[in-house]
Amino acid sequence: MKRFVDQVVVITGAAHGIGEACALRFAEEGAAVACLDLAEEANEGTAVSCRNVGVEALAVMCDVTDDKGVKTAVSTVLKKWGRIDTLVASAGIYTGSPLTDVSRRQWQRTLDVNLTGVFLTNQAVAPVMMAQHSGSIINLSSMAGKTSWPASAEYSASKSGVIGLTRSVAMELAPYGATANAVCPGNTLTDMVRGVAGRVGALDGMTGEEWLQMRANDCPMKRLAEPWEIAGVIAFLASADSRYLTGQAIEVDGGMIMS
Ligand SMILES: NC(=O)c1ccc[n+]([C@@H]2O[C@H](COP(=O)([O-])OP(=O)(O)OC[C@H]3O[C@@H](n4cnc5c(N)ncnc54)[C@H](O)[C@@H]3O)[C@@H](O)[C@H]2O)c1
Repeated sequence: MKRFVDQVVVITGAAHGIGEACALRFAEEGAAVACLDLAEEANEGTAVSCRNVGVEALAVMCDVTDDKGVKTAVSTVLKKWGRIDTLVASAGIYTGSPLTDVSRRQWQRTLDVNLTGVFLTNQAVAPVMMAQHSGSIINLSSMAGKTSWPASAEYSASKSGVIGLTRSVAMELAPYGATANAVCPGNTLTDMVRGVAGRVGALDGMTGEEWLQMRANDCPMKRLAEPWEIAGVIAFLASADSRYLTGQAIEVDGGMIMS
């Protein structure tokens, strides 16, 4: 399937995990891909992997919390390709600390990356999509945006914020024929979740592997997600098949939250 030929996709957090899986999925389906991330070397690696499947790809060093940096990155993409069809806002962090251990600095950094970063990137691409009268924004929220568990206060707050932000963006884009949706993955096997597993597991006397197994057991499907399974839903939200779907926060969590 090549649904995105002649389209341009911007992906934040493209160096690793879900963002990387999205970059490859869109590349395999024919899109030109702009990879935005702080992790320069790994981000270049994602762009190379995209080029290896025969599409154009750009690695742009970008901190999503930096207003100017986000604007410059979007200008770079527009200078090269002249349009943006899809934004996937995947850059995110998760520290996994109990409430009483969350410093003000940690709280602020999580909100800056996970929520302000989504705001800044949405704000930068929205005028482009309005002018084009087309486009799709897909913001990474989380299962933690709809429910919560211990050691996730600042993360949950940021991810709930992404859902509210996405609804408002969807309302503003709708008259222009562009869409905005949030995706709420369950635990997905990436560096982020492996790192959190070690820390959060230790709070309950478990190894990281034991904690991941416990999370898998909690899931109706009895396993965690692979990044490409999240990327597949994101690609659907960017495709012509979802043109009438906007303002939603879609769980991709093996049935953890059924609503
Ligand atoms: N893995 C999961 O279980 C899971 C579950 C629900 C939601 N999510 C969300 O999905 C998104 C991707 O998560 P992941 O598991 O792929 O994480 P990851 O740690 O594997 O990748 C995140 C990427 O974001 C980049 N990044 C971090 N801060 C940045 C910044 N300030 N500017 C630019 N890039 C930055 C990192 O360098 C990294 O490449 C995140 O928003 C995360 O909260 C993940």
